[in-house]
This record gives sequence, structure tokens and C-alpha cells, in this order.
Amino acid sequence: MRLTIAIDGPAAAGKGTISRALAQAFGLPHLDTGLIYRATGRRTLDGTDAMEAARTLSSDDLAADDLRTPEVARAASVVAAIPDVRAALVDFQRAFARRQGGAVLDGRDIGTVICPEAEVKFFVTASDDVRAQRRHKELVETGHDVELADVLADLRERDARDSARASAPMIAAPDAITLDTSHMDIDAAVQAAIDIVVDKTGVHPTAE
Ligand code: C5P
Repeated sequence: MRLTIAIDGPAAAGKGTISRALAQAFGLPHLDTGLIYRATGRRTLDGTDAMEAARTLSSDDLAADDLRTPEVARAASVVAAIPDVRAALVDFQRAFARRQGGAVLDGRDIGTVICPEAEVKFFVTASDDVRAQRRHKELVETGHDVELADVLADLRERDARDSARASAPMIAAPDAITLDTSHMDIDAAVQAAIDIVVDKTGVHPTAE
């Protein structure tokens, strides 16, 4: 059977951690679709046209070591609002989602646009303050000198742009299960997600 798990939600809600853990638990490949937009946005910072960047994106671009900066996140969210850029990046994501055996994908439009037929859909969220604290900690730990207030403002600006855009806005699919991780630690959030997958599909983890 095919098991595709779609995970959407705002920045720093825990999507990445939950996606990687689910992929590991159910033995599925994982695609962080945000990385594709980050790599595209990253190239526009060097002056490349956004469409050109999307059309010619290479695995080297995806392996760049500076894709996690706030500047690149902002550029990602700007190029992600351009319908033609999204269209250029759709086929690869759809093919990944529908590969044999299934996959876990996380992003903003996985359950709505990339894989509306996913067997399980999550909308992972958390309060703005909790998300800002998590992202701030992550950035400080990786050597970035940033203020919590700026991280919060950045997240809010990006969420607003991602939710308001006309093309594939960030929104929970009607059949998505909302997982609010504000008051959960990583283990609790992962366990809740695993339990939901088992409950919905009858498929049990191959590893935990
Ligand atoms: O998930 P991450 O924070 O790395 O995503 C960076 C940006 O890429 C998001 O703010 C959003 O604008 C864009 N994105 C998107 N659709 C996706 C994944 C990411 O528009 N499926």
C-alpha cells in the first residue's frame, strides 16, 4: 500500500522535526519542500531572476549551506508568491509524493495542492511566541546574532505573506488534522503524530 503523509503549517511549528521522525518511523523518504523555495530564493539574492532560478534549480543549490538564514527565508517567501515559480517546482514535488510506497512531505501546500490525495494530512501549528522562541534558539545555536523580537516579526511577516498569496496559500486542507505543538515537547508531538497515522491507516511504525 502507498502511504503519503502531507504536513503543512507555519514556520517553526515543528513540521520539520515531526516529518523527519515520521519518515524514520514508517521507513519513508522525506522531502522538505521549504528547502526548494529557499534554494530558489537564495539564488535571487545573487541577482538571478526568480523564474530562471526555479527552472534551473540543481541539487547543488539544494545542498548550499546557508539556506537556513532569516534572509534566505524571506527571499523564499517572496519567490513562493510568484505563481510561475510555484508551477515550475510542482512536478518534482508531485512525483516525489506519489512514489511507490509513499513519502512524507512538509511545506505549506502539500495537503491542498501537491498531494490532495495523501492518506494522512497534518496541519502543524503553535503560538507565535512559542514558534519565535524555538526559531530564535535554533538560530543562536547555529551562530546567528539575532534578537527574539526580530525573529517574531520575521515569522509574522512571512506567515502573513504565505497565507495571503493568491497562489497555493498556506491553509489547512479540509481533511487535515491540526496538531498544536505549543505545549508539547518533541517526543510528545512525534508520538501524537505517529498515533494519528496508525489510527487513520492501520499501518504501524517499522521503527521508533
Ligand atoms: O518551510 P520553510 O520555512 O523552510 O519554507 C520557506 C518558505 O518557502 C516559506 O515561508 C514559504 O513561503 C515557502 N514555501 C511554500 N510552499 C511550500 C514550502 C515552502 O510556499 N510547500
